[in-house]
Amino acid sequence: MAMKWAGSWVLATVLAVAGLAKAAVVEYHFKVAYMSAAPDCYSKTIIGINGGYPGPTIRATQGDTVKVTFENHVVTEGITMHWHGIRQIGSPWADGTAAISQCPILYGESFTYEFIVDRPGTYFYHGHFGCQRAAGFYGPLIVDLPKDKHEPFTYDGEHMIILNDWWHRSIVGQEQGLESINFAWVGEPQSLLLEGRGRYNCSNVPEYKPAGLSCNQSDERCAPHVWSVERGKTYRLRLASVASLSSLNFKIEGHSMKVVEADGHSIEPFWTDNLDLYSGETYSVLVKADKQGDNFHLGLNVRGRNDEQVPTGLGILNYKDKPVQQPTTPAPKGPAWNDFEASKRQAKTYKALQNNPDPTSHPFDASAPVTRTLVLLTTQNKVEGRIKWSINNLTYAPLQTPLLAGLVYNISGAYDTTPPPDYPAHGYNIFAPPEPPHTNVGSGMYQFNTGDVVDVIIQNAAALNNVSEIHPWHLHGHDFWILGYGEGQFDPAESPKSYDLKSPPTRNNVATFPFGWTAVRVHLDNPGAWPFHCHVEWHFHMGMGVVFTHGIDSVRARGIPNSVLGCGLTKQLFSLPSP
Ligand code: C2O
Ligand code: CU
Repeated sequence: MAMKWAGSWVLATVLAVAGLAKAAVVEYHFKVAYMSAAPDCYSKTIIGINGGYPGPTIRATQGDTVKVTFENHVVTEGITMHWHGIRQIGSPWADGTAAISQCPILYGESFTYEFIVDRPGTYFYHGHFGCQRAAGFYGPLIVDLPKDKHEPFTYDGEHMIILNDWWHRSIVGQEQGLESINFAWVGEPQSLLLEGRGRYNCSNVPEYKPAGLSCNQSDERCAPHVWSVERGKTYRLRLASVASLSSLNFKIEGHSMKVVEADGHSIEPFWTDNLDLYSGETYSVLVKADKQGDNFHLGLNVRGRNDEQVPTGLGILNYKDKPVQQPTTPAPKGPAWNDFEASKRQAKTYKALQNNPDPTSHPFDASAPVTRTLVLLTTQNKVEGRIKWSINNLTYAPLQTPLLAGLVYNISGAYDTTPPPDYPAHGYNIFAPPEPPHTNVGSGMYQFNTGDVVDVIIQNAAALNNVSEIHPWHLHGHDFWILGYGEGQFDPAESPKSYDLKSPPTRNNVATFPFGWTAVRVHLDNPGAWPFHCHVEWHFHMGMGVVFTHGIDSVRARGIPNSVLGCGLTKQLFSLPSP
């Protein structure tokens, strides 16, 4: 579809962002296609970018405009790309969410995302249509400070480490299993990957046993990734978890890490020898290469779900003055998978950096009055015999017409106007799910006013199997402040007394722990239509999400490009007789 809109907002917004004068336009061209890959030695078809996996690193400087053109060569699927952690200030149409911000880019089409990276830090990008992130469709996005500015920490060199869990089945088969009346759960991952590499024991695949046809442990593509460091120097490791299911724990044999950044925000630094990462989170840790020895394991383990079947993912930290060798020491292990207390302790360690010199740091203002409170109870229910996740008894189902376009063009019938409930049904017992009650299906749209300050409490509960597990929640278009975590049922009178209103960390991801609640506060200052969802790929696919919208008039005034339209009821917009 032809671009038919004024491009001048780009310049205006760039100038508005911290008065940055010399912003550049950074361009990338991504050709997306199926390709064969063997990240853990087992070859399967994935969605690759420019013939590689993981996707190329996008790197820009704060204030730059990033322009990424996609050519979709994936013969059987539409695609979209989400820029996870980038708020898309003024460009809500470029958020890359199918059914919300745009129509999928169809086979044979191309589409250009254009947005400003307003804040330095570590981010990533991933497909946001169906379960395409799980098909390997992701890569890192790094925003540097301008040359004359400095982060509140120093280092000599840096490395990116993107982390994932991995299955051998195709995502199509996995999705189909989740959607069936004969529900087929995806199960635990076969491998954990560091920088797209892991190692599966091919003798576990009976059909490939002796010959190693499609599972080959000497395949170059599954050799462990090597991160080289110079002895005596300090490195910034940028970590991002794009996991589809697993909560992860990262460890470096023999080295401690100083955690300095979380989701693109500086935090009060702290030391740890193992780091939890929930899906959707990014971190920077500083590591000093000052140990005796030459080669050390980087180890990745599963947290919160039984890890017996999931071997530690491994990489190699090599001191460059010595040849690379696979360490022969045991694989590093963090706390036991079910040591939830360790994870909660670490989650509560995060505090906003005091006196943060960065003007984009989004400092917490405890005096701003809260205009609305939502308590979102997350349960499993059944819809026509199928297992779904619901939020206050509403299961999210993607719309045919992208919500943003539906709202901007006021297309009747494009979306539900009934507001979802702000609170769960009174008296719900989070420890024992009732006989699966009927759940409603909808697009879960909460409408707010721009400027609202909203407290959102996510209440975790038992699933249909009576287990309560970790859910990592992610908000698009905004950051929030994590006010606190609590056990059991949230009590509106008592629980808020435990909130951290002094130095809550700014994030765009937060975990809920089993049978507990998590409270965040968000200042809705960026107009658009923004999903807030569990970042477990399989859970969001089963309906675990809602959408926050606000400020549609201002989005309309600025306009959205025609290139995001073309599907569902937006077709009407083009069939009108020309004036
Ligand atoms: Cu990284 Cu809506 O997700
Ligand atoms: Cu979840």
